[in-house]
Amino acid sequence: MASDQSPQRPGEDAHEDEQKGSSSVKGKAMAGKTMGWVLALIVAVVALFVGLSFKSRYPIAPSFPSPQQKLFKVDELALYNGTDEGLPILLGILGSVFDVTKGKSHYGVGGGYHHFSGRDASRAFVSGNFTGEGLTDSLRGLSNAEIKSVVEWRGFYHKSYTFVGKLVGLYYDDQGNPTKHLKGAEAKAARGAQLLKKQKKEEDKLPSCNSKWSQDEGGEVWCDNGFPRLIQRPLEIALTGKMSKRCACFREDQLGEPGLEVYEGCDYQAQTCRV
Ligand SMILES: *[C@@H]1O[C@H](CO)[C@@H](O)[C@H](O)[C@H]1NC(C)=O
Ligand SMILES: *[C@@H]1O[C@H](CO)[C@@H](O)[C@H](O)[C@H]1NC(C)=O
Repeated sequence: MASDQSPQRPGEDAHEDEQKGSSSVKGKAMAGKTMGWVLALIVAVVALFVGLSFKSRYPIAPSFPSPQQKLFKVDELALYNGTDEGLPILLGILGSVFDVTKGKSHYGVGGGYHHFSGRDASRAFVSGNFTGEGLTDSLRGLSNAEIKSVVEWRGFYHKSYTFVGKLVGLYYDDQGNPTKHLKGAEAKAARGAQLLKKQKKEEDKLPSCNSKWSQDEGGEVWCDNGFPRLIQRPLEIALTGKMSKRCACFREDQLGEPGLEVYEGCDYQAQTCRV
């Protein structure tokens, strides 16, 4: 649920274009008989491309040993915040650092995601708080579901942008090894994923009510088969730290079960209720 409410993830279209490009190259290689020649050509093109993009993205930092191994300090990452046109734009999430220069319209000065640039603001990906201390890498007090969402954002950056290294701090030590904070966050995210799956399985057994809302008529819930009742979502506390209820449809013979709540002002046998 939390990820549905997250801001739209920029750069996805560009990523799809890249995917299409690489699959058509693969298609040609398959069709041709001269596999060796095609392979050599691909290697040459890839080498050229890698060389070019590396050169253009890191004009003043040719000494990055291998992008996979670069360890950043907080002050160093801050330089890549998008204000200097000559530098790539980098951002950190859970201590992983990505080059988001190709998403300059979002991450550069004036872009809607500019506050993520040059820092690790992991928390802000789910809190939406981009002011002052809201821009922190601390996930303290967030729910499993929210932490799962942060981990998914990191997955998005792996998929759509270039991983360039790690930020030494909360999530990686000065050797580049994951800290207990990173392992803890990943464990909570995994727990969140497990609970969500379980919740979905449980809830699939009891169909949800239909619902609609309009300015003029307000809200309405109804069941095509059965009767609308409010019920607790038992896993919600473990997932989000909050109680929550949902509307589910029950058959007549189930209406005596414990824990079912009739909507206020709605008849016991009504199939539609105003909310
Ligand atoms: C942003 O980056 C520039 C150089 O690229 C640096 O001079 C400036 O201090 C950075 N801003 C912050 C808030 O770190
Ligand atoms: C954002 O976080 C800061 C620091 O924790 C807090 O003072 C501020 O009230 C928060 N703003 C919102 C809109 O939640």
